[in-house]
Formats: sequence, structure tokens, C-alpha cells
Amino acid sequence: MHRSDYLSIGSGVAGLYFAIQIARGGATVSVVTKKAATESNTRYAQGGIATVFGGDDSIESHIRDTLDAGAGLCDAAAVETAIGEGPRRVQDLLALGAQFSREEDGQLSLGREGGHSHHRIVHADDWTGREVVRTLLEAARAEERVTFHEDHQALDLIVDTDGNCCGAWVQHGARPDGSGGRIEAFSSPVTLLATGGAGAIFASTTNPPVATGDGVAMAYRAGATVANLEFIQFHPTALAHPEGGSYLISEALRGYGAVVVNHEGEAFVERQLRLGSLSTRDVVARAIVAEMKSSGKECVFLDVTGKDPEETRRRFPNINKMCRGLGIDMTTQPIPVAPAAHYLCGGVRTDIDGRTDVPGLYVAGETAHTGLHGANRLASNSLLEGLVFGARAAAHASGNMDIRRIRHAPPGMPEPAKPIDPDLAKRAGETIGRVMLDDVGIVRTNTSLGRACGILDELADEVAGAGCAPADLRSRLTVARLVAHSARSRRESRGVHYNADHPERDDENWQHDSLMRAGR
Ligand code: FAD
Ligand code: SIN
Repeated sequence: MHRSDYLSIGSGVAGLYFAIQIARGGATVSVVTKKAATESNTRYAQGGIATVFGGDDSIESHIRDTLDAGAGLCDAAAVETAIGEGPRRVQDLLALGAQFSREEDGQLSLGREGGHSHHRIVHADDWTGREVVRTLLEAARAEERVTFHEDHQALDLIVDTDGNCCGAWVQHGARPDGSGGRIEAFSSPVTLLATGGAGAIFASTTNPPVATGDGVAMAYRAGATVANLEFIQFHPTALAHPEGGSYLISEALRGYGAVVVNHEGEAFVERQLRLGSLSTRDVVARAIVAEMKSSGKECVFLDVTGKDPEETRRRFPNINKMCRGLGIDMTTQPIPVAPAAHYLCGGVRTDIDGRTDVPGLYVAGETAHTGLHGANRLASNSLLEGLVFGARAAAHASGNMDIRRIRHAPPGMPEPAKPIDPDLAKRAGETIGRVMLDDVGIVRTNTSLGRACGILDELADEVAGAGCAPADLRSRLTVARLVAHSARSRRESRGVHYNADHPERDDENWQHDSLMRAGR
């Protein structure tokens, strides 16, 4: 059994920033992370961090843009907290050594993305996530009170008989089918879940394979309330190339002047939407899907050829490198793109200090539902969310938990069960990805959602009857079912949830969060 004052599950922006704050306060913290500590959604962030740094911008304007994108479901306190505390957190990143892009006069270079009324995206070219991870990992590794456990996957939270979370069961060195390896208890009076998103429940996603929704699944099993899981944000412009793996083509490229065009070169998004290519992602993604359907083609294009080639290459070295590797010169050729699942707007319900309804369990980052995003996240608000609420969770937990009071005595070890047949695991994984994309994607209907729930529920019974599923598959199945059932229940369209049988927003009946708790 491992013991520490605090446990962080995940090494993205939220988990790392939490660990640094805890160590700065003088306590010990274990960071367990599924693969290498560098691997996370954070690592792949391109556009940057939305925050207000003066000029003609203001906190009020950033708040307004966030509320507009959120389509009536944002929590005002969460929005004001995240945006109000954002500048201080980004200053702290700079103090830790983050190298963000600057103008010739030394001021931070500020980009713009969809839904933002000002240039306010702090970035490191188009490698922002890599720079954030480098900075935070260096700072965390410099703290002797932070201990890293890489290739350690949390399987379940440990909840005592009084309902307190007192750590997690963690597996190390398992085979791909989930068998073997060691299962150990990481015992701690305070556990932060910061396991990121769940893009991997869809067959096409911008997320890396670690994003299987483990935190949402574990918290749900432990009795925490989950909220608004139907709100899955699709990014309008992922690379559509057989070898591109849904690699993201940043919205910052549109902020810089790129335009979405169809196979005839027509800027259809500019024609259809008031804010053109810089509208929020929900409407741009739907316009692209409609164009792909009417043309019968599998992609549209992002055209940046009108901009200065030198400047384009300098501002977007990461995207340029990826495109060049696939034989696409983005300065002379339009880039083929299509929408892909990108971000989980809902998650485990927390207050603005990261607390859940399970004592001892805090959640921050993409796994959390703080109320910041409502029905649609404003671009580049999530690195911000991870920083602000990761820090707030640390401050609240260290100010309010008497860590000496908790006994480090988890209940008995989970029974080892026979692993399911690898063929079933493969088929189940493929089914989840396909059903979610086809039936619970950008455009949903009553029929598609009913079908998805039926298929996923049956699959869950089949898998449960066959033995123990690999942890990733178990999480994907749990979260996919929660997303599908939540989407099926919401009989309206709002933000990124669009049901063609209920195409209007219905404030009278539906202006509230969708809450789910195991057994209710
Ligand atoms: P993550 O960064 O995803 O970290 C989760 C961590 O938990 C990982 O280390 C993972 O390995 C670990 N983990 C998962 N399950 C387990 C388990 N069972 N046990 C142990 N460890 C586990 N947002 C912006 O604001 N600006 C952007 O420019 C931007 N660009 C993006 C580009 C891409 C391609 C993607 C995919 C996302 C982008 N986002 C962006 C979203 C943003 O990156 C994420 O929402 C944010 O980084 C999430 O941070 P996190 O700390 O919550 O989770
Ligand atoms: C992007 O760079 O387009 C991604 C930004 C985000 O998801 O916030």
C-alpha cells in the first residue's frame, strides 16, 4: 500500500498544477498516471489559453462570450471564477518558466478563436500544450514532495463504509487484455481525479488513446453525481487524411484568416453563418456535416493559401510539419478536414472548489463539470479551467481536510476475475466507437439515440457476463452508455447537443443540467 497526504490521478494540466500547489504548501502528493507523465490531452493543445490581458479586452467581455457559447447552461459563479482568476494563473505559468509567443515589442502575442470577440488566446506557436506540460512537469519534478508513478492506471476509487473516498486501486504493468500486473492501494485522505476527457469513446477523435473517460466512470461507480454528459463538443476541423489520425487543425488557423471551403472552393460557412469561420464550434461543425452530406464527400477544406506563406509557417510550425509529412503544403494547398469528437463539456459535478458529493473526492479539468462550459465550451477555456480549478481544489483541500484524522486502511482487495476473450474485447471496442459516432454524433435523432442505448446496454450485459473487461474498455462502455442515455433524455437542441427531432432550444422545459447518479 502506498500512502501520501494527497493523491492526484492524472498528469495533465489539472493534476500537475494541483500537485505543485500541494507540494508548495508542504504536504506530500502521489501522482499516478496511466502512461508516460507527458501523455495527456493537455500535451496536444494547440490554440492556447483564453485569458484577458488588457488592451481593449475585458473580463466582462470574456464572461459574455463564455455565457453565449454555453447556451443558457453555464453556472455564473464558475464562469466568473475561472475568468476572473485566469490572468493570475497564466502569470504563475510564466513565473514557472513558460515560454509563450510574444510580439516584437515583447508583449504576449494574443490569438483569436471561434466565439471570442477579442484576441485573447495566449499561446506558444501552435505547440501550447507541449509548453504547458514541459513547464508544469519541470516544476513538479523539482518538488521533492511530489512522487510520480508512471504506467499506473487507477481502476476504482476506494470508498470506506462511511462513504468517504480514501484513495484508489491502481494497476501497474497489466497486459493489453487487462490481466496480470500488480494491483496496489494508493491510500490518501484527499483524492483528485484529473483523468481528462473521453474522446476515445468515438471512432474519430482528436484525443489521444488515454482519453477513455476513466475518471467519470470511476466517480460514477463510487456514487458521485455526473452532469451534462450529452454535451460532446466536436471540433470542426480535424485532418481528414487516411494517415492523419484525426490530428487537430487548430481553430487558431481560422483566427489567423483561414476559411472553410467546399470542393468547389466556395466559402460556404462565410455565406451561411453571421460570424463565418469564427462562429462557435457547434454551428461550424453542423454546417460542415450538412455540406458533406449534400456533396456526398468525406471532407471539406481549410484554406489558408491567401496568407503570407512565411508567416503561416512561422506561426503554425506544428501543423505545417504534420501537413508536410503527408505531402500537403498548407501554404499552397487547402487542407482536407472533417469534424471529430474533441471535448467532454459535462463530467463529474463539482462546486467551484472542486468538491464532489463524495467526501474526500475532488475533481478538476476535463473530468469535472464545474458549470463553466454549459452546453458548449468556448475555445481555449479548458486549459484555463484546469489551472484555475486545479489550484482551487488544492487550496480548499489543504485548508479544510485534517489529513491526520484519516486512517490509511482501505477495504479488501478486489477479487481478480477471469479476463474476457480478446476477440470480444476488440469487437466491443469497435462497436462503441462506431455506434457513438454514427448515432450519438453531431446530429442525433430519437431513433438513433434509442438504437445506440439498446446496442450499448446489450453489449454491457454481454461483456459483464463474459468476465473482467480491460480497464479502458470498461470505462469506455460505462461513459458511452451515460452519454447516450443522457442525450436520449434531453428532448431539445442546445449548444453541442442537436436532436433533429427536437431542433429548437426549449428553455421552458430544459434549461437545467442533466444529472445522473448510480442506482437512481
Ligand atoms: P488531460 O490533460 O487529458 O490529462 C489526463 C491525465 O490523466 C493523463 O495524464 C492521462 O494519462 C491520465 N489518466 C487517464 N486515466 C487514468 C487512469 N485511469 N489512471 C491514471 N491516470 C489516468 N484546450 C484549450 O484550452 N486550448 C487548446 O488550445 C486546446 N487544444 C486542444 C487540442 C487537442 C488536440 C485536444 C485533444 C484538446 C485540446 N484542448 C484545448 C482541450 C484541453 O487540452 C483539455 O481539455 C485539457 O488539457 C484537459 O486537461 P486535464 O488535466 O483535465 O486532462
Ligand atoms: C484548437 O486549437 O482549435 C483547440 C482549442 C480548444 O480546443 O480549446
